[in-house]
Amino acid sequence: MSKTSNLGTALITGASSGIGAVYADRLARRGYNLILVARDQQRLAALADKLGTATGVSVEVLPADLTDKTDLARIEQRLRSDAGISMLVNNAGMAVTGPLLSVDIDKVEAMLQLNVVAPTRLAAAAAANFAARKTGTMVNIASVVAYAPEMVSGTYSGTKAYFLNFVQSMQNELGPLGVRIQAVLPGATRTEIWDRGGLPIENLPSEILMDVGDMVDAALAGLDQGEAITIPALESLADWQAMETARKALGPQLSKSQPASRYRAA
Ligand SMILES: NC(=O)c1ccc[n+]([C@@H]2O[C@H](COP(=O)([O-])OP(=O)(O)OC[C@H]3O[C@@H](n4cnc5c(N)ncnc54)[C@H](OP(=O)(O)O)[C@@H]3O)[C@@H](O)[C@H]2O)c1
Repeated sequence: MSKTSNLGTALITGASSGIGAVYADRLARRGYNLILVARDQQRLAALADKLGTATGVSVEVLPADLTDKTDLARIEQRLRSDAGISMLVNNAGMAVTGPLLSVDIDKVEAMLQLNVVAPTRLAAAAAANFAARKTGTMVNIASVVAYAPEMVSGTYSGTKAYFLNFVQSMQNELGPLGVRIQAVLPGATRTEIWDRGGLPIENLPSEILMDVGDMVDAALAGLDQGEAITIPALESLADWQAMETARKALGPQLSKSQPASRYRAA
C-alpha cells in the first residue's frame, strides 16, 4: 500500500536505467513519491513495483519518448500543473559519439532534442510550477564534458555545455524566487549510455569510471550541502573555485564600446 509523502513527488526522466534508476531508488528511500519517465514501459513498471514494495511510496509510470513533441508536451503539462511535484530530476540523455565528418547527423539531431530541447522545456515547466509556490528542487544532470570538449565528441559535449550554461542562468533567475537548482557534472559513470552510444565500457580505464550508485550518492550529498554545481569526482574544490573566479573576472571585460587595441588599425 502506498503512503502519503510530505516530501512530495519527484519526477525523474530517464528513470528506466543508469543514473535515473538510482535516483529513483534513493529518492524513494528518502520518502519521495515518484513519477518515472522513459520510453521502456516494462522496465519502468518493474522498477515501480520493486520500489513501491520496498519503500511503500507511491510510484507512477509515465512512458514517453522525450524526442516526440506530443509526448514531451504531456510531461511538461504534468510538471506545470501538478502542485504535488516538488522535485524534477532532469536526467534523460543520450550520447552520439564519433567524429563530425562521419557522424549520423540525424542521430545528432535526436540527441539535440533529448539533451537540449527536452530538458529546457521540462525545466521551464517545472520552474513555473515551483516559482509560483516559492519552493521546489531541480536536479539537472549535465556532465564534466561541459568543461572538456577534448574528452568526447563535440556534438555531445556541446549539449552538456549548453545545459550547464542554461542551469547556471536558471540559478541566477530562480534562486531568489525560492527554487533550489543543482547542476550535477558526472565524469564517466558505469551505465548503459556507453554501449548504447557505441563505445564499449570495457574500453575505458577503470580508474576513471565511477559506479553509478557512488555517483548518485555523491550528487545527493552535494545537494544536501547546498551546492549549486556538484562534480562527484573532483577532489579539489579549490581548483573549480579558481576557474569560476577567473571566469567571473572576465565578465566586465567582455563587452566594450571599442575593440581591443590589438584589433585596431595601426
Ligand atoms: N554514464 C556516464 O558516463 C555519464 C556521464 C556524464 C553524464 N551522463 C548523463 O547522465 C544522464 C543519464 O544517462 P545514463 O548514464 O544513466 O545512461 P543510460 O543508462 O543510457 O540512461 C539513459 C536514460 O534516458 C532514457 N532515454 C533515452 N532516450 C530517451 C528518449 N528518447 N525519451 C525518453 N527517455 C529516454 C533511457 O530510457 P529508455 O531507453 O527506456 O527511454 C534511460 O532511462 C544523461 O543525460 C547522460 O548524458 C552520463
